Amino acid sequence: KRHLLSAGDLSRDDAELILTTAAELRELADRPIKKLPALRGRTVVNLFFEDSTRTRISFEAAAKRLSADVINFAAKGSSLSKGESLKDTALTLEAMGADAVVVRHGASGAPHRLANSGWVRSSVVNAGDGTHEHPTQALLDAFTMTRHLSGGKPTLEGRRIAIVGDVLHSRVARSNALLLHTLGAEVTLVAPPTLLPVGVDSWPVETSYDLDAVIPKADAVMMLRVQRERMHGGFFPTAREYSRRYGLDGRRMATLQDHTIVMHPGPMVRGMEITADVADSERSVIVEQVTNGVAVRMAVLYLLLGGSEPAVGGEE
Ligand code: CP
Repeated sequence: KRHLLSAGDLSRDDAELILTTAAELRELADRPIKKLPALRGRTVVNLFFEDSTRTRISFEAAAKRLSADVINFAAKGSSLSKGESLKDTALTLEAMGADAVVVRHGASGAPHRLANSGWVRSSVVNAGDGTHEHPTQALLDAFTMTRHLSGGKPTLEGRRIAIVGDVLHSRVARSNALLLHTLGAEVTLVAPPTLLPVGVDSWPVETSYDLDAVIPKADAVMMLRVQRERMHGGFFPTAREYSRRYGLDGRRMATLQDHTIVMHPGPMVRGMEITADVADSERSVIVEQVTNGVAVRMAVLYLLLGGSEPAVGGEE
């Protein structure tokens, strides 16, 4: 494949290949020298029109660990403030010889526009578009689950995953629902009725309004941030009511099975969807998700750009 735009575009074979490649590359994270020459001479552009901490830094680290040249573009401080369009920004990057463009944009569908427009010849990777998709987040989440729940095998067959919170505004939830289903998991979305999207009936998931009924059966519980910045018509229920009914606290964590992991894509709002004691508990794999994100993004860039053998045994 040339682009990574949607988790739904990945077949089971595609997903397994990315996860097994990431597992090989993940070994580098534990080594003193973390670099491979696989993408030497290639250029990766990080094109971020919307704020990011984890994804932007993770793609930069991933590209650098594969010896690619990295150009970071942030909307703030760019000529976008002078009215420049996505098209002209893309043409500028193309003229600079980008091999891959990693794009985050507030508008759902912006990476698809870039990939299908003919403006750029490079591979386009969706790093989060509006409320639509965030496929590399789903891949790193699935990778983290397989390490804890499947002994590292690239499958989640029969595993029960609860995704909890503001599904309505979550590109992470949609990408996870699609990818986890592809990998054989049974996904339940738990949210108040006002925070489930129209059309969720067509997703390959169950839905529930009752967190306490769902999480004792789950193998992984993924908490989502309440995205108040995307709520223009008000937030229902109130923050206090939300935390009481849909927040993960110590009392609820005590109802989980012994092996169950707690996840969050970040950024977290401690005290809203997750309490600090849960976020910092031994069940929490939130920091590990970030580490795994670098390996998964290395795998994605490597597979899209068709670099030389990753050869983890032979780093520089
Ligand atoms: N999970 C995630 O996408 O985080 P950032 O917004 O910090 O990139």
